[in-house]
Amino acid sequence: MQRFVEYVSSYELEGGWKTEKRKSHPLHSLCSRTGSFPPALARWYIERCSAPGGVVLDPFSGKGTAPLEACLGGRIGIGNDLAPEAYILTRAKVRPVTFGEVKGWVERNRRFIEGYRSSDAPEEVEVFYSRRTLRQILAVRELLREPEEDVDWFVSAVMLGILHGSSSDSLSVKCSHSFSMSPGYVKRSVRELRLRKPERNVPDCILMRARRVLCEGIPSVRGDAFNVDARSLPLGDESVDLIVTSPPYFSMQTYAWDNWLRLWFLGHDYREVAKRLFHTSSVPKFLEFMEEVLRESHRVLKRGGACVLVLGVVRLKGVLINMAELLLPVAERVGFEPIRIVADEIPKERKYLMYLDRSQGVGREVVLELRKR
Ligand SMILES: C[S@@+](CC[C@H](N)C(=O)[O-])C[C@H]1O[C@@H](n2cnc3c(N)ncnc32)[C@H](O)[C@@H]1O
Repeated sequence: MQRFVEYVSSYELEGGWKTEKRKSHPLHSLCSRTGSFPPALARWYIERCSAPGGVVLDPFSGKGTAPLEACLGGRIGIGNDLAPEAYILTRAKVRPVTFGEVKGWVERNRRFIEGYRSSDAPEEVEVFYSRRTLRQILAVRELLREPEEDVDWFVSAVMLGILHGSSSDSLSVKCSHSFSMSPGYVKRSVRELRLRKPERNVPDCILMRARRVLCEGIPSVRGDAFNVDARSLPLGDESVDLIVTSPPYFSMQTYAWDNWLRLWFLGHDYREVAKRLFHTSSVPKFLEFMEEVLRESHRVLKRGGACVLVLGVVRLKGVLINMAELLLPVAERVGFEPIRIVADEIPKERKYLMYLDRSQGVGREVVLELRKR
């Protein structure tokens, strides 16, 4: 059977995210993390495919971009991610606290943090920090070992955001803010480039970051966050109005390794986390995983609800794979109806692509729009 799906250019969408001029809410810059999509993309779909008061889900929420946009737009944003640091970031976005609450937390704990004497940390962690700063990080780590209140979770997320980077509130030697760099590389850079490990006061840096991200207040709608496998969500049948998500791109991103220092701060070994996260270079394994994910997404979505998958064109073992075309037949099999594919570049020769015939040459980002029949 020949089926057709329409291709649309992301640059030609009316008011599309590529040409969006509105500034994003500062809470999005709580912490940078690899593999995230732009807030404007999530906003575009949330505004068009859901109504205020509706439930918007991202089963692979990363740093919580889509759930935060949902709450800002008056929807109930629900995020889920199996990675511990992603869960904490998502939770902080859907259950944020006020600056006053963060200030209260810092002032209650300042003496303990500034007076902490132990500096017992693994060598690979030590290379990033001055002695005094490291002692204070260890103190905060101890205080947040078992977060209870929303403010504990929020401060934990702020710490993930300032743990490494190059801004004036970053605690580490100058390095990437979006991923944790390799300790060997940082050690060499410190030696060869004579990089200075800054003497930071951690309570002040927490306040600085919190003030910046909370300066426009918090959304009036609160959402929820989960830390489970996307194939088995703790949500009822037909309880969600819209899904906007971006699953792992095969083995293109190494989330656990990219966040090893943040995971250490949270008391996890990145190698153990890596074993749990989905990661493969095998097309059959990817399809098997995604079939289960799509089946679960279909179960929780209301009839007629849209499911938007932000995907890419990836090169795997030398072959270009358009993930949207790859997943279309799987999505249909579990009961979704294709709406269209939105791509950075439309394949040259035609506007409609016969999706049983795999073509190449589309741009980096492809968005597969589906609807539950
Ligand atoms: C492309 S990223 C999503 C990024 C997100 N859209 C954002 O804006 O930050 C894919 C996410 O899938 C998560 N992940 C990997 N395997 C998972 C699984 N089995 N269940 C749930 N989440 C998983 C990763 O931790 C990663 O955050």
